[in-house]
Amino acid sequence: MSAITGAAMVAGIIGRPVTHSLSPVLHNAWIEAAGLNAVYAPLAPTADGFRALVEGLRGGVIRGVNVTIPFKEAALAAADAASDRARLAGAANLLLFRGDGSIFADNTDGLGMLAALAVQASGFDPKFGPAVILGAGGAARGAAAALFLAGAPEIRIVNRTADRAEALARDIGRTVKAVAADGALADANLIVNATSLGLGGGPGPDIDLATAPTSAVVLDMVYKPLRTAFLGRAAALGLRTVDGLEMLIRQAVPSFEAFYGQPPPAGVDVRALALAAVGETA
Ligand code: ATR
Repeated sequence: MSAITGAAMVAGIIGRPVTHSLSPVLHNAWIEAAGLNAVYAPLAPTADGFRALVEGLRGGVIRGVNVTIPFKEAALAAADAASDRARLAGAANLLLFRGDGSIFADNTDGLGMLAALAVQASGFDPKFGPAVILGAGGAARGAAAALFLAGAPEIRIVNRTADRAEALARDIGRTVKAVAADGALADANLIVNATSLGLGGGPGPDIDLATAPTSAVVLDMVYKPLRTAFLGRAAALGLRTVDGLEMLIRQAVPSFEAFYGQPPPAGVDVRALALAAVGETA
């Protein structure tokens, strides 16, 4: 274990509950491997204690925090300035506490998605064709914002509750459209499950992947189980698949750089550590 002294760089994650978050596992493994004098701590305020905690961190006592459920919208609201991707997503998973007392909000979830696509579906380019997002909650918003900024020519939102899909489309931009499930996958370049369907097992989203072109890439944000039924159906049809664990790992990379001033060290098998933490095998 690297020495943690009074000079340690401190960052952390705020969530409720935060007990099962994988972020401490990832960041602390990287800290250890890099030999940094640094800490990444879990913080779990009460439901109405988030704002007071964040306000108390102004001034840079803690370099920054990741923010997870249910505080991502509150995190954006607490910041003085925000990146375009956080503003478009309407949520932040990263707050940085500047020395001048200000708070900057960012959202790296979409970056994590794009990086996971680059790793597990090499050659994928969001500009090549329409993206289809299943779901219209916070996770779907983050994905839509990232794909919009990455130049996807069209982003189709399919959601059980049509009003939510329409609101998301309106908020993000002209190329984002709320559509019905029927026909949504025609000429799709990317299909993303951003619903909670499939979490903990079960069949996943009810959409016929056979209606997608065989060139489409399918990403499932659900990572427990790692090999979801949805990804299984995609693979059986010959579609390329990207798993939610890779996305989760990749969203942590820009946060680590922002907190500790250097990229995570190479050579740490964080995927194996994360799999072990969620009780799966590689
Ligand atoms: P998150 O912030 O993780 O996206 P959320 O805001 O609760 O969480 O969104 C969950 C998504 O999964 C929503 O798109 C939700 O559809 P609705 O907007 O219609 O609620 C979708 N979802 C959850 N359970 C579902 C189900 N049984 N069938 C279809 N969609 C479901």
